[in-house]
Amino acid sequence: MTVHHSEPPPGSHLSSSRCPYGAASSATLPAYPLPIYGPEFSANPRATYAQLRTLGPIAPCEIAPGVHGYITTTYRSALYLLRNTPTLFAKDPAHWQALRNGQVPADSPARMMMQPSPNALWLDGDAHARLRGAITDSLAWIDTHALATAVARIANRLLDRVTALEHADLVSDFADPLPMQVLIEMFGCPPDLGRTIVLAIAQLFDTTQDAARVNAELEAACLALIRLKRHQPATDVTSWLVAHPARLSDAEMVQQILLVIGAGTTPSTNLIANSLLLLITDERFNGDVHTGVRPIADALDHALWEDPPISNYCPLYPRDHHTYEGVLLRPGAPILVSFAAANSDPALDQGSHRRSGNRAHLAFSAGIRACPAPDLARVIAEIAVEHVLDRLPDLTLACPQSDLVRRPGTFHSGWTSLPVSLPLTTTTAPHSYGGPR
Ligand code: HEM
Repeated sequence: MTVHHSEPPPGSHLSSSRCPYGAASSATLPAYPLPIYGPEFSANPRATYAQLRTLGPIAPCEIAPGVHGYITTTYRSALYLLRNTPTLFAKDPAHWQALRNGQVPADSPARMMMQPSPNALWLDGDAHARLRGAITDSLAWIDTHALATAVARIANRLLDRVTALEHADLVSDFADPLPMQVLIEMFGCPPDLGRTIVLAIAQLFDTTQDAARVNAELEAACLALIRLKRHQPATDVTSWLVAHPARLSDAEMVQQILLVIGAGTTPSTNLIANSLLLLITDERFNGDVHTGVRPIADALDHALWEDPPISNYCPLYPRDHHTYEGVLLRPGAPILVSFAAANSDPALDQGSHRRSGNRAHLAFSAGIRACPAPDLARVIAEIAVEHVLDRLPDLTLACPQSDLVRRPGTFHSGWTSLPVSLPLTTTTAPHSYGGPR
């Protein structure tokens, strides 16, 4: 679908003669739905959220080039959608009219992130409950002490390489590989299968590769893992999924494993990188955490409020026409829940100094769709960040902060790289600063 910036796109509320936004003045309406992607958005997402907020608690937006929908702009509207799922809102993209009509470009990032898939993320009702139950029950078996030990070992291995360098990129050298290696271990992958899965997932983001071949290789590796665990169960998430009373088929197992790996890696990478940036650059944190006055968990909470790793997601579809705070909601168009706009909603009226230790943010979503693994995510990020601070004290950015570039796109919020200069005092063995962490 081509975007015509000079006129409202087909299907936009703006083509209607009646303003559906109640109190919002028509003078504040944009000439076309604001994009929530692209360099201008990425440079200052909050400015776009503030502009969208002037249009109402749920506002029209362009999700990706040529793909239109709506976005929640307040904490209250985000909770309204999340708490009324699945009664008033469906998650299943079968409700997405533009997709049904073939109007979503095949290579659109929106399609890749929002199209139907036979996993818990995209199903409603009993089908969702069954698959989500199998995932949450299996994740609940994880021993968080053993997880912390594994994260520490993986962090040390990555940092051993980093300490040999003069300059490093804490995204590509650390925050990016760490969560993937942790999850591969959580699923009990033997090294060869783990390498195949990691390589195939990396290749999926490489447009020069044949996506169909890579997907087939990825599924074959997951299947091999499942068959191995059906015959030789061990203490890992794959074995617990296999043994779950929901009795998942091999095909269902493959899809849920890929969902958990996909859902667990990029957001964890972003949380680690966003927290490290805060700790390196923000005076309120770097001094106090290094001297043990403030726990790392405070910095993580602050990052989860200020820069949630998944910024806009959970596309939901109104099941019927209805009105919310004067906004007419119609079936057929996706409404993204903006975790970032909710967290930065001025109506919350809480200064950023009150955010540490306050977990009312929506970074892990809420309701029956909430992330099933916030505690695991915190363990992974906290141990990872702790090891960077221990092994690389006195880190500084190797470029002005204003030169850092955000990951492009609508859905995730993180950094493409975090170049740092390494001080000569890097340590070879972890040491503790004492104090609470
Ligand atoms: C900082 C790290 C993380 C953040 C910020 C995060 C956030 C979220 C959010 C916002 C959702 C809802 C998405 C939606 O409804 O469209 C979600 C779902 C999910 N997350 Fe996480 N997550 C993180 C880490 C993890 C980890 C480590 C795992 C697994 C080990 C995980 C597994 C899942 C799964 C399986 C879902 C789908 C649940 C469902 O649809 O019922 N996440 N996560």
